[in-house]
Amino acid sequence: MTNKLMKMRAQHAIARQSRRHASALVVCEGTGKFVVGGNWKCNGTKDSIDKLCASLNSGEITADVEVICAPPMVYIDRVQSKLNAPYQIAAQNCWVSKGGAFTGEVSAEMLKDANIPWVILGHSERRSLCGETNEFVGLKTKYALDTGVKVVACIGESLAQREAGDTLNVCFAQLKAILDCVTEKDWENIIIAYEPVWAIGTGKVATPDQAQEVHAGVRKWMSENVSPDVASKVRIQYGGSVNAGNCDELAMKPDIDGFLVGGASLDGEAFVKICNSAAHSK
Ligand code: PGA
Repeated sequence: MTNKLMKMRAQHAIARQSRRHASALVVCEGTGKFVVGGNWKCNGTKDSIDKLCASLNSGEITADVEVICAPPMVYIDRVQSKLNAPYQIAAQNCWVSKGGAFTGEVSAEMLKDANIPWVILGHSERRSLCGETNEFVGLKTKYALDTGVKVVACIGESLAQREAGDTLNVCFAQLKAILDCVTEKDWENIIIAYEPVWAIGTGKVATPDQAQEVHAGVRKWMSENVSPDVASKVRIQYGGSVNAGNCDELAMKPDIDGFLVGGASLDGEAFVKICNSAAHSK
């Protein structure tokens, strides 16, 4: 089968699954402040990062949005000294417990000590490339929160899981592993990032309806398994090929409370535009 045919088949399967789920979900909208994260991943040099900071600083960010940038660990200090308010900083990962003999790792205590308020945990690249399990992500989340570092917790299904109709079950299992470790109060300091793996870095963004459907399902699950109050307040970001051209339409969906942006967050102008899509939210 050609690549094109395979892609078309995948697209149809995704659309089919979406239609199947749509009718089963009750929508209860989110009430939290719109929040956009820029996940710079393992990209950049001193030079390119300085330029990106300058470009971000020159953009006007609406007061309706909270913005969190996650540079590569080695450049965080540099970025902290260059980025102005309202930009906040996140690390892209941290260790599961207190620091010590863990070569190559960074502890939550170190993030706290370095005044880094946020950490992204459970990104699909770490789950798939570094073997992080749901349980491990749950433990990491709790440890970071207890150390005073807030968490962007990533969930999301692979293409095969979506095609098998398992999207929500996969997301719920990932959330359950976090739920098992945290208290109800901890959710005040957690952002959920729904990032379908098939949409990350592929240019194949979920349609607004596909994303809304999962976000609504996640919020319903949160309502039933934590509380309606937490469910309405918790912010659920969408991530996966968000760009300056598709952000406004996605932001209009009632359960999309922001974005986690990879590729487009390396372009200052595009990222500022994505942040300001908050104006279209609800
Ligand atoms: P992308 O990445 O925007 O490049 O698809 C999103 C992410 O992995 O957080």
